[in-house]
Amino acid sequence: MDAQRLRQAFTGFFADRGHTVVPSAGLVPQDKSVLFTIAGMVPFKPYFLGDELPAYRRATSIQKCFRTLDIEIVGTTKRHETFFEMLGNFSFGDYFKEEAIAWSWELLTGLLGMDPSRLWVTVHESDSEAEAIWVDRVGVDPRRIQRMGEDNFWSMGDTGPCGPCSEIYFDRGDAYGAPGGPASGGQERYVEVWNLVFMQYNRTKSGELQDLPQRNIDTGAGLERMLMVVEGVDSLFATDLFTPVIGAAERALSRRYGDDAEADVAIRILADHGRAMTFLVSDGVLPANEGRGYVLRRIIRRAVVRAHQLGVEGLISPGLVEAVIDVMGVAYPALIRDRDMVMEVLEAEEGRFSRTLRTGSALLEEELHSPRSTVQGDLAFRLHDTYGFPIELTQELARSRGKELDMAGFDRAMALQRSGEAVQNLLHQ
Ligand code: SER
Repeated sequence: MDAQRLRQAFTGFFADRGHTVVPSAGLVPQDKSVLFTIAGMVPFKPYFLGDELPAYRRATSIQKCFRTLDIEIVGTTKRHETFFEMLGNFSFGDYFKEEAIAWSWELLTGLLGMDPSRLWVTVHESDSEAEAIWVDRVGVDPRRIQRMGEDNFWSMGDTGPCGPCSEIYFDRGDAYGAPGGPASGGQERYVEVWNLVFMQYNRTKSGELQDLPQRNIDTGAGLERMLMVVEGVDSLFATDLFTPVIGAAERALSRRYGDDAEADVAIRILADHGRAMTFLVSDGVLPANEGRGYVLRRIIRRAVVRAHQLGVEGLISPGLVEAVIDVMGVAYPALIRDRDMVMEVLEAEEGRFSRTLRTGSALLEEELHSPRSTVQGDLAFRLHDTYGFPIELTQELARSRGKELDMAGFDRAMALQRSGEAVQNLLHQ
């Protein structure tokens, strides 16, 4: 089963059970509490809160998502990514735990053919109801169910809809780490494939949990992770969604994936960030010094620096964009429409950064080779201000060499420049 078949199988399964298939919303959310669409439920937030009445009580979607929480890790593992597609089914005050749990199991073990003896389940420590459904209704061995605390409570952010959740994990086997289930076993071994959130609270600004007007279901399964299990490969990057983009990254870097650990990290970064930058620009995000545009700038530059470290001189984005549109255009035709615009924006941004990259990199290398254990704040500021190195990138590069960055010094240099600018402005008034 390839990605497109999995997409269709998932939404088809829920359409057969009375769900309306809702197209993906953009990566730039209507909701102001999050910078990006970070989960399948984001476009439905007003329905969960009871602020708006949906035209349907059951929905299913494949939502484009973008998260940067783990960005420093992306590339170093085979299972982290920034841009991903989230498969989900939703109930707005309609069905609740019983159906959501039973259907998830039916879909995984029936339609997708996953071996039930490889699946584990976690529930929130307070949720005896969910545990009982897993055992009594679905027939899961109680020894395969673990209770967890914080990890089994999902919230959209500091405020907003939230609730206890139950997660399903696939056991990849002894070769991937210690046994013990998701609660205490190896993280690479137990891969989360689906999260079922029992959305029943709204967290207010003061942190209070208020009951929502109705009990809802919000489930989310990363398409790429599920595909990895279904296709029987050990990496997101080995799925049919990624292999052509990995190929483009190999060509951009003139390296073969699998030959060398450092180049492999760079190849995965280019593949992941190539997808993210293509979708972000197509969804209307443009490189900038703040907000969403800054995040986009950061991922472009993170990829470009990696390429530069491997001696690449030419542009990396055109080949990546081409490959991403080739693979993803079937499911997201807007990419095909936006192709020229995306290419132009990314080439211009990459070109701008490339002009200062060489000098900036040389300065940073010098600092990283010095005996000091800390990268000087002044230098980090100069890299940011004159050479366009996002501070988070400098910090990450410093850490990869075992050094910390003097953030206080960086902030001081930034404040000094701002006050200097303020004086200049006063003098010119
Ligand atoms: N909102 C939950 C998540 O993102 C389930 O969809 O994991």
